Amino acid sequence: FHVPPAVNEPVKSYAPGTPEREEVLLTYKDLYNTKVDVPLYIGSEEIRTKKTATMHPPHDHQHDLGVYHLAEKKHIEKAISEALEARKKWAKLEWEQRAAVFLKAADLISGPYRYKLNAATMIGQSKNIYQAEIDSACEIADFLRFNVEYMSEIYDDQPESDESAWNRVEHRPLEGFVYAVTPFNFTAIAGNLPSAPALMGNVAIWKPSDSQVFSAKILMDVFQEAGVPSGVINMVMGDPEMITDTVLKSPDFAGIHYTGSTEVFKNIWTKIGNNIHTYKTYPRIVGETGGKDFIIAHPTSIPKQVSTAISRGAFEYQGQKCSAASRVYLPKSLWPTIREQIEEDIASFKMGSPEDMSNFINAVIHERSFDKLAKYIDQAKKDKKAEVIIGGNYDKSKGYFVEPTVILTTDPHYTTMETELFGPVVTIYVYDDNKWEETLEILDNTSPFALTGAVFSQDRYAAAQATDRLQNSAGNFYINDKPTGAVVGRQPFGGARSSGTNDKAGSKLNLQRWVSQRLIKETF
Ligand code: SER
Repeated sequence: FHVPPAVNEPVKSYAPGTPEREEVLLTYKDLYNTKVDVPLYIGSEEIRTKKTATMHPPHDHQHDLGVYHLAEKKHIEKAISEALEARKKWAKLEWEQRAAVFLKAADLISGPYRYKLNAATMIGQSKNIYQAEIDSACEIADFLRFNVEYMSEIYDDQPESDESAWNRVEHRPLEGFVYAVTPFNFTAIAGNLPSAPALMGNVAIWKPSDSQVFSAKILMDVFQEAGVPSGVINMVMGDPEMITDTVLKSPDFAGIHYTGSTEVFKNIWTKIGNNIHTYKTYPRIVGETGGKDFIIAHPTSIPKQVSTAISRGAFEYQGQKCSAASRVYLPKSLWPTIREQIEEDIASFKMGSPEDMSNFINAVIHERSFDKLAKYIDQAKKDKKAEVIIGGNYDKSKGYFVEPTVILTTDPHYTTMETELFGPVVTIYVYDDNKWEETLEILDNTSPFALTGAVFSQDRYAAAQATDRLQNSAGNFYINDKPTGAVVGRQPFGGARSSGTNDKAGSKLNLQRWVSQRLIKETF
């Protein structure tokens, strides 16, 4: 039995006058003005607790979108026991049955739920429609469909047998449950982290980011409508430390699928280490964490290509993609041309609410992030080694708005060349044209992260040299293209060094982490 090859979900244009533009705007208005009440999803129950938190759009922080309920320890314990109960049947189900459920989820997302999920992502995470479409319509559907294809390849891959012995491999779900901890910045990642292990026959406790609950609830609706049985994916919100500690104390904790900050991931890893004697199996630890993603241009590069990569790569979704360019190395000879082009691009970027679709820049995710960005921008305004050459203004009176900001520095180790800011701020260092090799060296030694990076060069030897010299500096390395926008099935995504375990999202490698093989040899 073979599943048909997965095909990437086509991206709709949302150009003025298209039906999709009208539809998504209507849905946006509707969702904006209906208060939601998001329960904990535990087993077959939707639990409403006494404690709730209110949700606000980042671009309009006084507007009330409704509430989500906060779990207590007993709820997390219940979620674990419900998951383990559900596992008894789910883990035994034929893989084709599980595939059917998640293929249906993909079709619901690309079909009847498309505008709702896009609108929720626009509202709750302050994303423009074009960025929402590639995330909460296309990438999530692609993850689900490609993962089904990869799963079928995994099960197909069997050892050789001969007349004396028959060998086969079973790919068994992990013995226990998987903990999925997901970030705010991609609805697709939020959907993928619990569903990939579930597809492989596991059950999951899913903790979405506090800043993504609005669209997470709709993903949960999709999973339920698609027929994911009760208890297979349990969604819980609440104090992250309490949830994590409760989960990690369970002897049945069998793995974590994580995307988020490096610090939290390292803490979780340490806690897992400290609890190692309580577990029945060695937990699988799969995580994608921080980044300090780079662009480096060789003197032979095409200035227009480089400037577009900077404007798009650093500022799409307010620089809050894990893949966003945040440090840039440019040759002196090309700098004046590239500078002019970036200034022109950024001048054309309008900032405001995603409801006005001409706004390219929306708000940053929350006040904490806004304050951190403002602090670094102010510091750069004062520092001798740095100059804010574009943008630099911010305003949180209505929403958390930070202008696309370019800092120019004379020091390749300047703070904003090294610190992860996760916002619309990029720092540029201009190097002497004859210092290409030294600059590669500096680049490699500047950051503990290695998520994405891009080299621009028309000189094949220089491109090859950068590819070789920077072999451990990025899990996703781009030649003559921006470092963002990986597409499932084309560019499996993940980082090395302090950026993660590099078990590429949307890949066979990733799915293999969610199974435990049993080899069976039989002689006759
Ligand atoms: N996959 C996204 C990108 O490549 C980041 O998570 O931009």
